[in-house]
Amino acid sequence: MAISTTVAICLGAYFLIPAMLYLLVPRDPTIHPRKRAIVLVLGDIGRSPRMQYHVLSLVETGFLVDFVGYTDTAPLQSITENPDIKIHEIKPAEKLSLPRGLPFIVVAAVKVVYLTKQLYQILRSLKNAEYLLVQNPPSLPTMFVCYIFSTFISRRTRYIIDWHNFGYTVLALKLASEKNMLVRISKWYEHWFCRYAFAHLCVTKVMAEVLVRDFKINAFRIIPLPDRPAIQFQPLSVETKANLFSTSRIFSEFNPATDRLVITSTSYTPDEDFTVLLDALSHYDSSSTLEKPLPKILTVVTGQGPLQEQFLCEVSKRSWSNVQLRTVWLSAEEYPVVIGAADIGVSLHLSTSGWDLPMKVVDMFGCGVPVIARNFPALSELVVSNRNGLIFNTSDDLAKQLIDVFTTPQLLRTIQKGAMVECSNRWSEMWRITAGPVFHIPNREDLTEVESSSSSDDE
Ligand SMILES: *[C@@H]1O[C@H](CO)[C@@H](O)[C@H](O)[C@H]1NC(C)=O
Repeated sequence: MAISTTVAICLGAYFLIPAMLYLLVPRDPTIHPRKRAIVLVLGDIGRSPRMQYHVLSLVETGFLVDFVGYTDTAPLQSITENPDIKIHEIKPAEKLSLPRGLPFIVVAAVKVVYLTKQLYQILRSLKNAEYLLVQNPPSLPTMFVCYIFSTFISRRTRYIIDWHNFGYTVLALKLASEKNMLVRISKWYEHWFCRYAFAHLCVTKVMAEVLVRDFKINAFRIIPLPDRPAIQFQPLSVETKANLFSTSRIFSEFNPATDRLVITSTSYTPDEDFTVLLDALSHYDSSSTLEKPLPKILTVVTGQGPLQEQFLCEVSKRSWSNVQLRTVWLSAEEYPVVIGAADIGVSLHLSTSGWDLPMKVVDMFGCGVPVIARNFPALSELVVSNRNGLIFNTSDDLAKQLIDVFTTPQLLRTIQKGAMVECSNRWSEMWRITAGPVFHIPNREDLTEVESSSSSDDE
């Protein structure tokens, strides 16, 4: 009898205590029933297409996403209108009003402290997310804050870096020297703090090799995830194209029957040398003679950025009769349509490190538009000469290639076909297969394998 009472009490306690704990202990409100991911970019969300695609892919696979960054330009509608995505604004340090005449290093330090404080506060309010995906560069102060956050504040959060480039090479270009003390410190900083990440995504295979060789990161933790065109970049139908040419202000002086449309998109940064394009256009212009006239070219330059004034000033010095150039700023919705209307795209992107690839080329391929691209080491992972585009080193090469493309229909057709092949290879599929496993998302093949093997077990 004593034994059965003891057993009864034990059994009662065994079931009752957890049940009471479950009812009485307040639940941690920050743990959500759905998986959460934070996506962080210390840059303008609207001008960070790759981070936007990450966000959409995470949401597509069931995550709630907190998207942290500057909010100068509007991101895609599919992001702003999605109830599963919450945008958290970082206030740019440029808006701080500091007394004039302070030395560069003091201004930089104040800005870093200002950003660190903001990032820390935002991240702390998002504690306990499963993942924190961060764009690099900029690495200062993001890498440090993410390290503190994932190691001390929110230990269940897995911190993942998406490498678009290396912060120190961008800084070296800005300061015009590799040996500058700041560049060395920034390189050390990047080397040191990237080790605390759980995994690394990066944009090219050569970049993955550099991360293993120079940054001593375990290759097992690195996943090359090349940019792929997102769904809004599609070849235009004949009607859409005709409609665009007849209605858009950009094409008021453009005759689609005889003229050719060249497009280039830019953020007017020092890694793009515009003189090359302008010289090539001048060369093209002067190559058109009465006996052998070349088609007229309209060159549309889209984008915004620091060197735009300088570019416009250089353009105003040129006078062409067979070439027209227009600069425009397009919304995220207009951009794919104007790109899609082009006969050919031009990429002037000259990577600061040589290890990243221009997103605009990927976008152009998404629209089935072939690309003439400036040569640099990683480019061959994307553009293959005479298959989906052409590759140039000098402005003379570019001029000659423009002439070739617009006088040899066979060549244009071949590379257009190649661009259409690229076009069928899309971001969300690629993301699911390569990045998915990092976020514990099974890819479709695995799922179908499980299904088919379990059904074969039944037989
Ligand atoms: C550009 O330079 C590379 C190597 O320096 C060379 O292989 C390639 O043929 C050049 N391209 C053109 C169009 O001259």
